[in-house]
Amino acid sequence: MGGEIQALQSVSLQFEPGNFYTIIGPSGSGKTTLLHIIAAILKPSSGDVHVGDVELGKLNEGRRDAWRRQNCGLIFQDFRLIEELGPLANVLVPSWFTSMVTKPAMRSRAEALLSHFKVPSRSGPVAALSRGQQQRIAMARALLLEPEIILADEPTASVDKANAELIIEEMHNLARQRKTVICVSHDERVARRADHVFEIEDGRLVRDRDEAAPRVAAEGVSS
Ligand SMILES: Nc1ncnc2c1ncn2[C@@H]1O[C@H](COP(=O)(O)OP(=O)(O)OP(=O)(O)O)[C@@H](O)[C@H]1O
Ligand SMILES: [Mg+2]
Repeated sequence: MGGEIQALQSVSLQFEPGNFYTIIGPSGSGKTTLLHIIAAILKPSSGDVHVGDVELGKLNEGRRDAWRRQNCGLIFQDFRLIEELGPLANVLVPSWFTSMVTKPAMRSRAEALLSHFKVPSRSGPVAALSRGQQQRIAMARALLLEPEIILADEPTASVDKANAELIIEEMHNLARQRKTVICVSHDERVARRADHVFEIEDGRLVRDRDEAAPRVAAEGVSS
């Protein structure tokens, strides 16, 4: 069909809990597309994503959304914060879907996460904060519900060196806590700290820097 863009050709990857994975590749190589397929935000035109016994492609949209909310913490490349709300309210957004009221424990956890990522919890709307602060709010929000799978798209792109190290260290520690951490990045510092590095180019897996890394499971061709 004319005008169709094939963002990913044939990518086959397997991810295991307890590991910190980095996916690197040039701009436009398909990294965000791949991350969104893993998160079941995008449906591949062929292939599928298996998570444990679940085949995400077999779930309808509502169930995919529920699966993502229950299992994934997402840090989007463009943050996707609610600009009119402050940091604390943004970090608490995932709790909207778990109960009607924000429990005090959830609020304390949100405050602790913001403090860990060095963002004042009581400031005005996040739109007025720096991009680096917004990026760390997005990270705190992704971790609120202690997800088993953390999917981060360029999480160090807007922060300074010290905060990049804080974020990289956090991803490393999450993997040590048996989480599955998958991070798309241009940042060599992220790749150096990862347990496994996959490299994609023009929608293809060109290099698996750790050949011992397990292969095959999330397969997809996205157009
Ligand atoms: N919604 C869309 N409509 C049309 N083309 C798209 C769309 N999303 C992605 N693409 C194309 O698919 C390819 C891969 O895009 P993707 O955003 O996954 O790249 P990326 O590796 O994340 O790049 P960057 O490092 O700049 O974030 C690009 O050629 C892009 O133009
Ligand atoms: Mg991208």
